[in-house]
Amino acid sequence: MSTVYLNGEYLPKDRAMISVDDRGFLLSDGIYEVTPAYRGRLFRVEQHMRRLRHGLDALRIEYDSAGLPEMHAELIAANSLDTEEVAIVYLQITRGVAPRTHHFPPAGTLPTVYAFAQVHRRPESARWEQGYEAVTVPDERWARVDIKSIGLLPNVLAQQAAVEAGVADALLVKDGVALEGSHNNVFAVLDGVVTTHPATQQILHGVTRAYVIELAREHGIPVEERPVPLEEMRAADEIFFTGTTTEVRPTVRLDDQPVGNGKVGPVAKALYEAFQAGTRA
Ligand SMILES: Cc1ncc(COP(=O)(O)O)c(C=O)c1O
Repeated sequence: MSTVYLNGEYLPKDRAMISVDDRGFLLSDGIYEVTPAYRGRLFRVEQHMRRLRHGLDALRIEYDSAGLPEMHAELIAANSLDTEEVAIVYLQITRGVAPRTHHFPPAGTLPTVYAFAQVHRRPESARWEQGYEAVTVPDERWARVDIKSIGLLPNVLAQQAAVEAGVADALLVKDGVALEGSHNNVFAVLDGVVTTHPATQQILHGVTRAYVIELAREHGIPVEERPVPLEEMRAADEIFFTGTTTEVRPTVRLDDQPVGNGKVGPVAKALYEAFQAGTRA
């Protein structure tokens, strides 16, 4: 039985109970965060907590998030995940429990804070080397996807479309622009330049995205942040997705057409190797 965190307590998962009046359940009124730990060490936890703070402030959920990194470390230890190559901590904060109204509940309503930790398995390298496929899906999300809201219906439908197509990733497209994946960011390699949508309100500001941009710059690979039209993306030499659980995942076919030469490209490979080395360090 795993140990989870709920409102200040560590307890066995089957004893963690949430009210049916929770605004997360009734209204998707909350946010979440997923932070990785490599061999027990949280990776970029400050960046994950900064993004969480951004979401709490944008949604005006009052919560002191100062103790969260310690709670994350505690959950990793309590579930004996210290020796796992990769584990993740999922954290969700909702506006709390109150009779259902669209407007905010009475002042003083405490947010609900829930977290769990679990192992995450990286793909075998032979599988990764084969590359992955993706399909394009219209982006039907709201206008503030920089907030990591638990309201994920469009993402759920997009990823289900990918699953039904038998592929790994869904590439969300709006007004002809390839924005990001259903649960990851997307990059194209265009004439040697690693190109990705700028960190606006139209994408989630991925912590992995920022790390991969840093790694590319460290390796002397030029980076450009600008909107990439889908047609340009289709003609890219390489495409890859990035995310906490995705890490760096190369796309070798998009909508059943080969990307570049249809094989995993050197830039994705170099960045994945750098990513693995960086998370081992
Ligand atoms: C829509 C979306 N984009 C991008 C990402 C990647 O963010 P990160 O690298 O911080 O995991 C996620 C992660 O869940 C996501 O849901």
